[in-house]
Amino acid sequence: MSNEKIESAAPHVLPSLPYADNALEPVVSAKTIGFHYGKHHKGYVDNLNKLIAGTEFADLPLEKIITKTAGKADKTAIFNNAAQTWNHTFYWHSLKPKGGGEPPAALKQKIVASFGSVDACKKELSTAAMAQFGSGWVWLVLDGDKLKVVKTANADVPLTTGMKPLLTIDVWEHAYYLDYQNRRADYVNAVLDKLINWDFAAENLG
Ligand SMILES: [Fe+2]
Repeated sequence: MSNEKIESAAPHVLPSLPYADNALEPVVSAKTIGFHYGKHHKGYVDNLNKLIAGTEFADLPLEKIITKTAGKADKTAIFNNAAQTWNHTFYWHSLKPKGGGEPPAALKQKIVASFGSVDACKKELSTAAMAQFGSGWVWLVLDGDKLKVVKTANADVPLTTGMKPLLTIDVWEHAYYLDYQNRRADYVNAVLDKLINWDFAAENLG
């Protein structure tokens, strides 16, 4: 799945998880997925459909809604629910059972060129995740010809600032609290070592 395939027009539907709800255990439990996907992600999709019904956004694809509402104070609720719908779909694909390990060659080459090594890239993702105060996301992005790590607050997504997301990790407490309580670093490091889907990031490079 690439960025473009997340696009869908109203009514927006909750996309299927790309794996079973217990497939990410023991790093992310089926219980966490049950709440995170079944309640939180579904909630954003349902809210979005309610908020855009009968508006100029009703028939727009998801990414258009996000870019057209970003930074507009009177459209915050639509932006938040649209962006959280997109971000969560992107997050599920950024993880996979038996992930981690070595990135595919073309991606690895870019990672080494931008960060020095795969470990340095992982360290930067982990540091950014810890530096994000409160709810948000950490992203590996393509910015021009360079790979970068960026963090965003709440629902914000690098799509709105011209960068191309390659993968993301959700650092809202709802992503890890049931499994790790307040130990965000343990969650992020376990995800980077065991679940991160470098193949998905490599597809998004293309
Ligand atoms: Fe989340």
